[in-house]
Amino acid sequence: MSVWAILVAAGRGERLGLDQPKAFAKLGEEPLLAEPLRRLDESDWIDAIVVVAPPGWEEPAILLAEELGCAKANACVAGGATRSDSVRAGLAEVPGDALVVLVHDAARPLVSDDVIGRVLAPLSDGWDGVVPGLPVSDTLKLVAPDGGVVDTIARDGLYAVQTPQAFLADVLRRAVAGGAEATDCAGLVEATGGRVKVVDGDPRLLKVTTADDLAKIASWL
Ligand code: CTP
Ligand code: MG
Repeated sequence: MSVWAILVAAGRGERLGLDQPKAFAKLGEEPLLAEPLRRLDESDWIDAIVVVAPPGWEEPAILLAEELGCAKANACVAGGATRSDSVRAGLAEVPGDALVVLVHDAARPLVSDDVIGRVLAPLSDGWDGVVPGLPVSDTLKLVAPDGGVVDTIARDGLYAVQTPQAFLADVLRRAVAGGAEATDCAGLVEATGGRVKVVDGDPRLLKVTTADDLAKIASWL
């Protein structure tokens, strides 16, 4: 089975608030993008990688992949205005005979072989997609714009979902067709009737959103 990874790194990183896109923010001595790219390249589960770079940053992304010696980095394309658009751009580079596509946020640098193995395994048992998730531990409230609590949401069975997310390639292609939008790929697959399973996530898959997240992840390295 051939597994293609799409590493989405095309976001602007507005909440991080730097001059350059989030993928090129410094994590230690390297651009953030280096860590997940190297980890995917070193994973025995992954056959090839498509990097989706911020528009205008394709060349620095290609140079970085070369510097790191990433032999599996097959293509680098510019992303779109939304995450779903960026996934569509990446998927266009995946050949028709790929069986499985793994989509990962570059903003979650600490992807591991363990979690990749966990999301790939259920695809052989009839699932269309598999995502890592962590049970929500805080109490959840629905809050109005003025801060007033509207409702308290029962927490049972609620998960915070991460990436990498694995899909049968054909299912993901159908799900992204026609310009659909969702905050993750699983949402697109669910909307087209796909069966998606949640497996154990990893707290270390924290997504870099703010400068604090970047510092926390740097301290874990
Ligand atoms: N992403 C992307 N293309 C977009 C938007 C997001 O490839 N148009 C990617 C980001 O690069 C990131 C992942 O999707 O790896 C999750 O997005 P998020 O954490 O929201 O990153 P940004 O959109 O860059 O950050 P912000 O929302 O603060 O601008
Ligand atoms: Mg965003």
